[in-house]
Amino acid sequence: MTAVTRWGILGTGNITRKFTEDLHLLPDAQVLAVGSRSQARAEAFGAAHDIPRCYGSYEALISDPDVDVIYVGTLNPAHYADTKMCLEAGKPVLCEKPFTLNAAQAQELINLARDRRLFLMEAMWTRFIPAAVELRRLLDADAIGPVQYVQADFCIYRDFDPDHRLFKYEAAGGVMLDLGIYPISFASWVLGQHEELFTTATLGQTGVDEQSAYVMRYANGALAVAASSARASGPLEALVAGSKGRLRLLEPWWFSKHLSIEMSGKPAKVVKFPYEGHGLRFEASHVMECLRAGKTESDVMPLDETLRIIKTMDACRAQWGLVYEGE
Ligand SMILES: NC(=O)c1ccc[n+]([C@@H]2O[C@H](COP(=O)([O-])OP(=O)(O)OC[C@H]3O[C@@H](n4cnc5c(N)ncnc54)[C@H](OP(=O)(O)O)[C@@H]3O)[C@@H](O)[C@H]2O)c1
Repeated sequence: MTAVTRWGILGTGNITRKFTEDLHLLPDAQVLAVGSRSQARAEAFGAAHDIPRCYGSYEALISDPDVDVIYVGTLNPAHYADTKMCLEAGKPVLCEKPFTLNAAQAQELINLARDRRLFLMEAMWTRFIPAAVELRRLLDADAIGPVQYVQADFCIYRDFDPDHRLFKYEAAGGVMLDLGIYPISFASWVLGQHEELFTTATLGQTGVDEQSAYVMRYANGALAVAASSARASGPLEALVAGSKGRLRLLEPWWFSKHLSIEMSGKPAKVVKFPYEGHGLRFEASHVMECLRAGKTESDVMPLDETLRIIKTMDACRAQWGLVYEGE
């Protein structure tokens, strides 16, 4: 691995644009290549983002021997096949959330990466932003006492549009896979494996969840209450509470620049964590650190935890009767 990590970008959509812009903020990252299903889109993306190699197929991108790691930013149903193709070609991968549609697909990719000793990580970028890192540090230092309650939502009103990936059944839409995965992952990060799960959803006219809620109970009695919605806007905060106080990542919590520390009986202290860019460069830096250290897995977003989160979402969908195309 060179001192500069050379990234390949797979797909030319909204999130790959933001990720590419954030990679440009990192002196030890080079965006070497982009791959698209269309040569014209690859070239337009390359011209807009100063990328020297533009490929008109994902296969061509993956075959470039100079690409050190690939960022998969295609639509939900494509993550499994695109990541598999990268791993089979010997490329480490950072794959957008949701990692796969279901646990069976996730397990297969995890087995493949482990067999080939290749780095693989779900792009759960929220864990890597500075305010979340500080929250984790405070929890590990037992600052608020044992955590007994977590509450987080990702509820943003959006006009119904059957062609938008959020509402589109064929794109494996629905708010849980798109938005709810953030609070579910947050609860898993703070509290670990739950013992009991309660869930319900409002399925819309395209058959996917337009609102869904997830309540989890843990062995030590702790509870997590999480929800996502495209029909209403929520407070967009994440709260972690213990016996001595509580911590809140302020709106919008998944890329928050403000952590509120609220110890019982004391005034709240809001600590600022400013950063440039979209908030995606922190996960990218982590991936590069892992690669340079020869790691095949992240200890911040481990693959077994990615699998656990997908199993949780599978269990929710099973209760609602939501089955995606091809499942
Ligand atoms: N981390 C985050 O904050 C965040 C935010 C938004 C979305 N996401 C995730 O990122 C993924 C992409 O979301 P997005 O908003 O970037 O979507 P998007 O703008 O629609 O881009 C998706 C890209 O996937 C590629 N693609 C491959 N097969 C496709 C198909 N059959 N139809 C349409 N596009 C196809 C296209 O690239 P080519 O045409 O160049 O091949 C397209 O540009 C989703 O899984 C989503 O959950 C993450």
